[in-house]
Amino acid sequence: MDHSNNAQHDEGLPERSLHNLIYCSLATPNLDPAEIDQIITTAKRYNPRYGITGLLVYGSGIFFQWLEGPKDNVIGLMKRIGEDSRHLNLVILSEEDEVRERLFPNWDMELVEAAEIGDVLKNALKEASDEKQKQMLLMFLKQLQIA
Ligand SMILES: Cc1cc2nc3c(=O)[nH]c(=O)nc-3n(C[C@H](O)[C@H](O)[C@H](O)COP(=O)(O)O)c2cc1C
Repeated sequence: MDHSNNAQHDEGLPERSLHNLIYCSLATPNLDPAEIDQIITTAKRYNPRYGITGLLVYGSGIFFQWLEGPKDNVIGLMKRIGEDSRHLNLVILSEEDEVRERLFPNWDMELVEAAEIGDVLKNALKEASDEKQKQMLLMFLKQLQIA
């Protein structure tokens, strides 16, 4: 397909690569639920300063977090999160650089109940405008149905 007629060249706006990182981890046994609110409060203060958006899912003692933003900032935050004693056994599920729109442009860091993650992803899919976004969301929805 030839899109050349539609191509827009915004000379002053180079395409920006978005770093996307997804991990899951195990909450420290007997973690006080107040700590979850504390994490979100910290994130809402910290993430906007670094252009980081995403969501944190917590349920059944497991965290699942989606971070998107400039590469160095996401890696810097991930290092701090990795050293946090409120969780263990952190496993990175996916990490990549892509030129695409953010999936959660308005969420500095939103806490989502485990039961609600399917709906959140389906809504994001409805609003998604670019093909890469859609592919990622579909991949996650597919994984959730298998799990
Ligand atoms: C599961 C989990 C998710 C977290 N997510 C974020 C986050 O998105 N943004 C953030 O600033 N801190 C987050 N934190 C908190 C950081 O690990 C760290 O406590 C915080 O950045 C303050 O770091 P400091 O004590 O070095 O200032 C998270 C912690 C956990 C356990």
